[in-house]
Amino acid sequence: MIKAPIHNNMSPLGWIDRELVELEKRGLRRRLAVRGGPQTHRVVIEGRELINFGSNDYLGLAADERLARAARLAAEREGWGSGASPLVSGRSESHAELERQLAQFEGTEAALVFPSGFAANTGIVAALVQDGDAVFSDAKNHASLIDGCRLSRAERFVYPHRDCRSLERLLDRSAGFRRRLIVSDTLFSMDGDFAPLAQLADLAVRYDAMFMLDEAHATGVVGPHGRGVSELLETEPSERTRTTYLGDSERPAPRPLPPASSHFIRVGTLSKALGSGGGFVCGSQSLIDWLANRARTYVFSTAQPPAVSAAALAAIEIVRQEPERRQHLLARAAELRSKLNQQGWNTGNSQSQIIPVFLGEPARVLATASALREAGYYVPAIRPPTVPAGESLLRVSLCYHHTAEEVEAFIDQMARLR
Ligand SMILES: Cc1ncc(COP(=O)(O)O)c(C=O)c1O
Repeated sequence: MIKAPIHNNMSPLGWIDRELVELEKRGLRRRLAVRGGPQTHRVVIEGRELINFGSNDYLGLAADERLARAARLAAEREGWGSGASPLVSGRSESHAELERQLAQFEGTEAALVFPSGFAANTGIVAALVQDGDAVFSDAKNHASLIDGCRLSRAERFVYPHRDCRSLERLLDRSAGFRRRLIVSDTLFSMDGDFAPLAQLADLAVRYDAMFMLDEAHATGVVGPHGRGVSELLETEPSERTRTTYLGDSERPAPRPLPPASSHFIRVGTLSKALGSGGGFVCGSQSLIDWLANRARTYVFSTAQPPAVSAAALAAIEIVRQEPERRQHLLARAAELRSKLNQQGWNTGNSQSQIIPVFLGEPARVLATASALREAGYYVPAIRPPTVPAGESLLRVSLCYHHTAEEVEAFIDQMARLR
């Protein structure tokens, strides 16, 4: 006899409701909000305008008319959808031009554009290492790198955040593996601090490891030309001492990059400071050819719409032509961080436009975010699993368009909450 389906808590999906209740109890349940209008330094959420300290649109390009215009023109010229994977019939002229421009911008032989930064990271790691290989990953790397490591089936070694001594110990014992890959964010998305790139690069060369950098939050923002944290490694020693982008403790050792640097794998996103969508990787032509053949998130996913590539192209041009955007952003971030520190908030080791305010437990972060929201500020409450237990934080991120008055008023509000 066939039994009728049971639609109650005992059904095969009943566990979901029970787990959601658990998340709620622990202050970890999230809810989706609807944004009204464009996303800039101000944002309308559920009908109310708030000053937006929760966006990755660092250069204020997501609602820039030049990107919208480029997208409109491309849509008229090339249509909206891409229809297939880039390998089949989906790579538009805008897509190909974007790859050429990205390679030029990053100073590499070639580039490849993925549908998202997440797809780029998972696909690339899994295309570079497999069973019998080893991958070494910073404990605070982004979820997309972590998932790439898991997918790859390589042996995973997670080293404590920015701890090159521990990494070296692990590399020292890795002779039995066929290939080695070190992966790291360059600007960590929650802590706003930089990876010790010079030391990581040295270790990669000494242990004959591949080295993959994720510049997702640094592209367009960090470095004299906005190429990211790795650009600070390329500059001459005299230039490095002049840069204001790194604190003294993190200043790279004053020597040129080793010759193997041309083998580094540089990943970035088009979705954050560049205000568009998609992810990319830059490197040698053979690396790009390999990834176009073997990165499954590239091979088996529809290419991004031509208009999205065209908007990203317009953004790259703005990054080239308007360095004042990143300079202004980083200067204002330094001011905000220092005032928050003076008030006694813990901003960890942040050195960038991402300023965490560490509050510990989810309940405290939720209460503070909610008080800020009452006062007209949108600041996301970041809780596990995005950060480890006990490290919940408010993630304050700045945008080029925040005015001095808005930032001052926010600082006053934080003082009141203290
Ligand atoms: C460090 C890092 N890498 C990659 C990504 C994924 O990029 P995308 O949002 O373009 O998928 C993110 C997204 O937040 C990130 O923070």
